[in-house]
Amino acid sequence: MLSAEEKQEIEHELTKFPIRKSACLEALMIIQKHRDYVSDDGLKDVADYLGMSATELDGIATFYNLIYRKPVGKKVIRICDSVSCFIMGYEQIRSKIQEELGIKLGETTPDQEFTLLPTPCLGTCDKAPALMINDELHRNLNPNNVVQILRK
Ligand code: FES
Repeated sequence: MLSAEEKQEIEHELTKFPIRKSACLEALMIIQKHRDYVSDDGLKDVADYLGMSATELDGIATFYNLIYRKPVGKKVIRICDSVSCFIMGYEQIRSKIQEELGIKLGETTPDQEFTLLPTPCLGTCDKAPALMINDELHRNLNPNNVVQILRK
């Protein structure tokens, strides 16, 4: 069930759209902000509120890589695996992170601190390789500075 606060925030988003389901992505982001990820129950709550089927909404939720359908760590590392980053050393950066955190792509550290996920181009190809940790962009990575960034 949606909380009063969640409903209020979704209602605010609904004022920007002509039909209720057009605000579904914003509504999912609101649920994620309050609950850390979008569980099946959270997805159903939003679908019911917007008059959509859970299946239809799940198709949208799983399409967007910023919607987490499973629990994630406090810090989500999204490492770019698109062409410029790939050419400029993605694989070394990814293996350094995996080695440092002891997790593979798609996994979360046992202390729930970090989740490592792949992401398409972050729009900073001229400073590849790049990744984001939550909302913070890190560019011009190399195996040394990526470890310093993680330890910070
Ligand atoms: S390819 Fe990685 S930022 Fe564009």
